[in-house]
Amino acid sequence: MIVGVLGGGTMGSGIAQVAAQNGHKVVLVDLNEAVLELSKSKLAKIMARLVEKGKISSEQADETKSNIQRSTDIQSFKDCGIVIEAIVENLGVKTKVFSQLEEITPEGCILASNTSSLSIASIGASLKDSSKIIGIHFFNPAPLMPLVEIIPSVQTSEETLGSAKNLIDSWSKVTVVCKDTPGFIVNRVARPFYGEALRIYEEGVADFATIDWAMTEIGGFRMGPFTLMDYIGNDVNYVVTATVFESFYYDPRYKPSFTQMRFSEAGYYGRKSGKGFFDYGENATNVAPTEDLALGKKIFDRILMMLVNEAVDAVFLNIGSKEAIDLAMTKGVNYPKGLLSWADEIGLDVILKQLEDMFAEYGEDRYRPSPLMRRMVESGEKFFA
Ligand code: NAI
Repeated sequence: MIVGVLGGGTMGSGIAQVAAQNGHKVVLVDLNEAVLELSKSKLAKIMARLVEKGKISSEQADETKSNIQRSTDIQSFKDCGIVIEAIVENLGVKTKVFSQLEEITPEGCILASNTSSLSIASIGASLKDSSKIIGIHFFNPAPLMPLVEIIPSVQTSEETLGSAKNLIDSWSKVTVVCKDTPGFIVNRVARPFYGEALRIYEEGVADFATIDWAMTEIGGFRMGPFTLMDYIGNDVNYVVTATVFESFYYDPRYKPSFTQMRFSEAGYYGRKSGKGFFDYGENATNVAPTEDLALGKKIFDRILMMLVNEAVDAVFLNIGSKEAIDLAMTKGVNYPKGLLSWADEIGLDVILKQLEDMFAEYGEDRYRPSPLMRRMVESGEKFFA
């Protein structure tokens, strides 16, 4: 099957590489010729490095490279069995492009979007036959991150869902099916990793370095929240949070943080601007964490409790299966354990008590426990045991 990829930027290039490495002929289209050239030279470098490391043979590298045909003409998708769109995150632009795609592609062609924040239903509404729309959400970098969220919308047919899932599974990716709701699984469940860390800082409980230390050294996360926000970019991360917040009709659980907004306004984006929560300048000296175990444990417990509550609520609202939700967080954002398995280990009753104490102390809706957590504590049920 010929795979079409629309948009040759960060995500489109990565998705095209994955399809080509899995033996597909790929048509990669971007409006901008220079983007396509850059995508080609970057792929050549990646392939050369993989050959050098002995991960692939030079024949395999050549095959992957020759599998990708690049074009600025959208008509080049005329023989594709699927087109995955990864262009600018703008609904107006996407819907225009999808109705064009429907005209150009063969009848049974699946039309997929890699959108992170738009609803699949809204993109599908631009099609005459919206049963062929689906969300296929890769993580950055697409060739390295195993997780792919598969998002059927209310219009998607069973056939489209089955074929799309089978295809991505055949690329050795870990797929999870999730509901067409804001943030899908990962970007929804992960919100407190940033939000609660920012809140802890705002309350003066600890500084950035100490919160990061608690999450990495005590929690076992690969990166602390502030290092990760600096890596993602405070501008980007703030907008994702604000979008999720608005999409949930302003549920206070997802309220963005003034601290991050001010950092973003100041241009303190993080690594890419040389300064964020930490300083990345050549002679920068960052404050060392306060390695106080009792404080660190308190910070870790508070953030983990919020993450678990989000994961439990995602099960409660059928955003994905419990297996999907645990896989999503370990394979999409490298969490050291699935949050639901983690909750089983700690004890849901312990987590519920922490949340109830916070809720009683703060009187804020952000600490309201998921009804499923209460139910499971009452029945003594576990997620996986
Ligand atoms: P990017 O800015 O790197 O690439 C977008 C490309 O689309 C650009 O090369 C641009 O020239 C091209 N383009 C724009 N309009 C076009 C059109 N009408 N026809 C053809 N090409 C067009 O963006 P990126 O980061 O690759 O994101 C693409 C999509 O993937 C967005 O929907 C984004 O939300 C989503 N996404 C991004 C992730 C990330 O970490 N960057 C992760 C997962 C999803």
